[in-house]
Amino acid sequence: MGKGLFITFEGIDGCGKSTQFEMLKEYLLSKGEKFIVVREPGGTVIGEKIREILLSKKNDSMVPMTELFLFEAARAQITEEVIKPNIEKGISVLCDRFFDSTYAYQGYARKLGTDTTDMLNKLATGGLEPDITFLIDIPVSVALERRGKRGEADDRMEALGTSFQEEVRKGYLEAASKSSRIKVIDGNSTPDDVFEKVKEYYEALK
Ligand code: TYD
Repeated sequence: MGKGLFITFEGIDGCGKSTQFEMLKEYLLSKGEKFIVVREPGGTVIGEKIREILLSKKNDSMVPMTELFLFEAARAQITEEVIKPNIEKGISVLCDRFFDSTYAYQGYARKLGTDTTDMLNKLATGGLEPDITFLIDIPVSVALERRGKRGEADDRMEALGTSFQEEVRKGYLEAASKSSRIKVIDGNSTPDDVFEKVKEYYEALK
């Protein structure tokens, strides 16, 4: 039995990543593929508790280094408890965010250093890497407009504002420039058009 695929989605807040994630999920279901879906931070009982600490606006005194370690703690848990065992069993894993988020948000935008986040990412995952990563790229202004339309309250990370999101976007594009695993997809068009690209890359991978 072959291993399952490990597929991740990335992008700034409001980029349309979750819509694409759902579309790929439906597509895989229609093809009868064996897979599970998870999200980061979270995806395990322990990870969801860590998520609550990370995203609660009550925790506005959290220093960036604490934030980094909490994301990595949640990642270590989901990797060992959920991602690796499923892949080994031949079940693919679709993950909404993974370690490229840490590269872009903590390493680059929070300025903790991408060498540091590369090292901790490796430690938390035991070296496991996605087979493919879809980076849905859009201008920050478009993402903000979309988020405004959704009308949901910002979480602690989203509340960091426009210039922070600009940095996150740059961080993602820097990560993509270093790795052929990361496929940059222009998210500034209709969900169907964006999904055509996702589907093409997915089919090429199989
Ligand atoms: P979430 O509600 O899951 O965001 P989205 O729906 O946009 O994926 O919140 C996760 C937030 O945490 C998001 O702002 C990105 C941030 N994050 C990091 O800063 N570092 C990380 O390693 C991860 C996984 C997420």
